Amino acid sequence: MKKLFSAVLTALTFFTAFQTHAEENKMSDKKALVAYFSASGVTAGVADRLAKSVGADLFEIKPAQIYTDADLNWRDKQSRSSVEMNDRSSRPAIASKVENMAQYDVVFVGFPIWWYREPSIIDTFMESYDFAGKTVVPFATSGSSGIGDSGKNMQALAPKAKVLEGKRFPASVSADELKKWASEWL
Ligand SMILES: Cc1cc2nc3c(=O)[nH]c(=O)nc-3n(C[C@H](O)[C@H](O)[C@H](O)COP(=O)(O)O)c2cc1C
Repeated sequence: MKKLFSAVLTALTFFTAFQTHAEENKMSDKKALVAYFSASGVTAGVADRLAKSVGADLFEIKPAQIYTDADLNWRDKQSRSSVEMNDRSSRPAIASKVENMAQYDVVFVGFPIWWYREPSIIDTFMESYDFAGKTVVPFATSGSSGIGDSGKNMQALAPKAKVLEGKRFPASVSADELKKWASEWL
């Protein structure tokens, strides 16, 4: 009886160890990048937590020309953001490029919602790389709006990618919540 008990215990220990190992591998067998644009730091915080929680690389989509407070004034129809967002062909320049995009399987793309969708600089980003064979997962922060058609818009600009609908998160979303959400694609 003692022997049987010990054998069962050993088997259980192995099984648990194997399972834990398999789960760890599941989080790491795909290489992920978290690329984000953030005009006032909210999306940057979420992106940082996401990248750390899943062990992904982090890349800031920095505008070649930084957005000033006046640029971000949505009440002013002549502000830079209003003008850009009113023009679907607007493609604000990005200061630097992701090194070796080819190495990534999954690219999380984060941004603030501007006028119910992705900011134009995200459109620039989507047109700047070959996303063939990659899964692109949008995520956003906002005052209250959802992510809307951002994913669909991004898909149209990078037809070879598989762009998902994505999700809008509150600024306070925890690293654990982000990890749980992201693990579906890792
Ligand atoms: C030009 C502009 C347009 C915005 N449009 C929306 C909107 O349509 N819906 C919304 O809920 N929030 C909107 N916001 C608020 C931002 O989405 C929100 O503050 C976001 O968390 C800021 O992220 P960031 O700090 O990473 O730039 C807008 C902000 C700006 C500057």
